[in-house]
Amino acid sequence: MDVNSRFLLFSGSSHPEFANSIAKHLGVSLGKVIIEKFPDKEIGVQILENVRGRDVFVLQTIAHSPNSYLMELLIFADALKRASARSIVAVIPYYGYGRQDRKEKGRVSITAKLIANLLEKAGITRVLTMDLHSEPIQGFFDIPLDNLHAQSCLAAKIKELQLENPLVVAPDLGSVNLVKRFAKELKTDFVFIDKQRVSLEEVHVVSMIGSAKGRDVIIADDMISTGQTIMAAAKFCKQAGANRVIAAATHGLFIGPGCKDSAIDHVIVSDSIPILDSFLQEKLVTVSVAPIFAQAIHSIVMNESISCLN
Ligand code: R5P
Repeated sequence: MDVNSRFLLFSGSSHPEFANSIAKHLGVSLGKVIIEKFPDKEIGVQILENVRGRDVFVLQTIAHSPNSYLMELLIFADALKRASARSIVAVIPYYGYGRQDRKEKGRVSITAKLIANLLEKAGITRVLTMDLHSEPIQGFFDIPLDNLHAQSCLAAKIKELQLENPLVVAPDLGSVNLVKRFAKELKTDFVFIDKQRVSLEEVHVVSMIGSAKGRDVIIADDMISTGQTIMAAAKFCKQAGANRVIAAATHGLFIGPGCKDSAIDHVIVSDSIPILDSFLQEKLVTVSVAPIFAQAIHSIVMNESISCLN
């Protein structure tokens, strides 16, 4: 049996372009499925392929309409389980709700854990994802989870900008490991910003541990949501004497009014989430991580290590 007939790849509704791109890299066609929304907004999924005894991958990114796409993924997995798939791998480029990964204050949910429970309960047997908001989320699962990283792809694009004396800046203390990976790729050093989130839409920079004076800086984060974090960090870096300011993040949600007039010169994100907005269009560069996902799927099917991809 050749490699490509050993598995099936399906796409949920959240990011068909990305699923198609992975399929193209793998040289397969996407599995046939009907996904419908009933008049009352309930979701129905019918698999149109024989999946009995097959290894199945379902791509769904949990962004933009996270509740709807999550529910669709759960229904998809249940349909595959009941159709006797041998294994069901959820390919989740962006793991939504990842920021709700701990009890930061009283009487709140750890929703990232709740989602892990739901995915397992629905029949998912493995998760393939990228740059989880925090690494401990891996431990929320009792099934294998592979957390890929986008920093090598993003860094390759940054190198094309021919920055002078680059410096990687962590916009908060939570992005330490990610920033270290960037600094290693770019063969340079890094500094930290101490950020204070005043509200869901407002961020203040308290101080910087290190100096950005005379440097081209790369503000590196796992995600850009409202853009407040990168904008506050960029302003602080410019005031601290930085030259060019590049923001680089794996996941570009781009919610809200945008940062066209900010101190940022370029924004580089991956295509883990469809870019819906023109929020930063003239400053925005997108780098595809579909080849990394395709390689990871190939390695999973072949029972090969994927740690070399990181
Ligand atoms: C926070 O811990 C994350 O790593 C990001 O810095 C944050 O979620 C970005 O959100 P926003 O763009 O709304 O500031």
